Amino acid sequence: MYRVGVFASGSGTNLQSLIDAAGREFTVCVVATDNPAAGALQRAAAHNIPTISFADPRDGPDIVRSLAKFELDLVVLAGYLKLVPADVVAAFNRGMINIHPALLPAFGGKGMYGIKVHEAVLASGCAVSGPTVHVVGEEYDRGRILAQWPVPVLPADSAAELQRRVLAVEHQLLPAVVKAAAAAGTPVPLEPRTEAFAAADDPSIELRKE
Ligand code: GRF
Repeated sequence: MYRVGVFASGSGTNLQSLIDAAGREFTVCVVATDNPAAGALQRAAAHNIPTISFADPRDGPDIVRSLAKFELDLVVLAGYLKLVPADVVAAFNRGMINIHPALLPAFGGKGMYGIKVHEAVLASGCAVSGPTVHVVGEEYDRGRILAQWPVPVLPADSAAELQRRVLAVEHQLLPAVVKAAAAAGTPVPLEPRTEAFAAADDPSIELRKE
């Protein structure tokens, strides 16, 4: 069984999408956080998944030590807001992925998280946004892109509305990437997702009707 650990700092809806998709192909073995108040911890507890709250998210050796017994194949950063120390990235040797709510390499980097990302997309006038899953490197939001899913920016969008629609496709994209990694034994790129423009019957995606 492919063993996945999830790092999350917030409410953990992406974690939930992984918990819901786990089963035959992969299992979520541990949820770790820098934030003892993270809603993600309650989601983990509800499914009897062990949790770890890092005493110091900059202490790489301690993080590596605390994860060792879970024998993880993959670490997923799902709304984890701290920089992962270089020795933790090295310990997982490219078996660490992150989901970001915009089409990297645009709208990423330090300080670009949460609603700020969507505000920046709207301010830019971009017609398309959408989530990116990428391999974690030692800088924020860099590393090989594995999957992206375009989400149209609609003329009447607020940042909150765009965030809601992007999050809805994050919940489909992230489990798809983890399942592909489980099948391959390592993170692999997915075919570009273009259904967002075609699947007008998908209730999570509202298309411009012209
Ligand atoms: C998501 O938009 C994710 O892309 C970003 O942080 C948000 C986390 O949401 N990295 P949640 O905690 O999974 O609900």
